[in-house]
Amino acid sequence: MAERIVTMIDAAAIAARVQELGKEITRDYQDKPLVLIVVLKGSFVFASDLARAVDLPLRIDFLGVRSYGEGTESSGVVQITHDLSKPIAGEDVLIVEDIVDTGLTIAHLMDLLRTRNPRSVKVCSLLHKPARARVEVKVDYLGFTIEDKFVVGYGLDFAERYRNLPYIGLVERE
Ligand code: IMP
Ligand code: MG
Repeated sequence: MAERIVTMIDAAAIAARVQELGKEITRDYQDKPLVLIVVLKGSFVFASDLARAVDLPLRIDFLGVRSYGEGTESSGVVQITHDLSKPIAGEDVLIVEDIVDTGLTIAHLMDLLRTRNPRSVKVCSLLHKPARARVEVKVDYLGFTIEDKFVVGYGLDFAERYRNLPYIGLVERE
């Protein structure tokens, strides 16, 4: 079956929103050092743009996760495939996610990171699908709220494809 990608959020709209988020984060942390934790793989495109929109002394680290689940549904059981390179004790930490869907992945990551005694942990997600929430998650910095549709591009994949699209699109079967 052929697939067609229909643009949902174009590159210019993403870029404008990322600049706004960067300004908000810069204002809130007021020259304090911040650790951006990039959740791989989906967040790598968003995080690279966001990092350059934040004017703070930044440290950037990566957390590789794999969520065990059936098909496109996450189970909330998260396997760490690549851990942080340094401790985060006493640091202000901002988790950068591509999308909060059921919320199970981010809830698990918040619990995990809190055991390492950071000074604070906040969440920045490009996308949020509130219709599918299974646990309540506070997204401190949010790019866009979207309806319950499977999206790809700008880092997000469908079976590892489409991460390199410069926009967010919907997968349509034709
Ligand atoms: P959650 O645990 O259900 O919140 O799932 C979060 C993860 O599922 C995200 O980090 C994505 O990797 C993946 N995901 C959820 N919805 C989508 C989507 O619409 N497109 C691509 N990946 C998605
Ligand atoms: Mg992800």
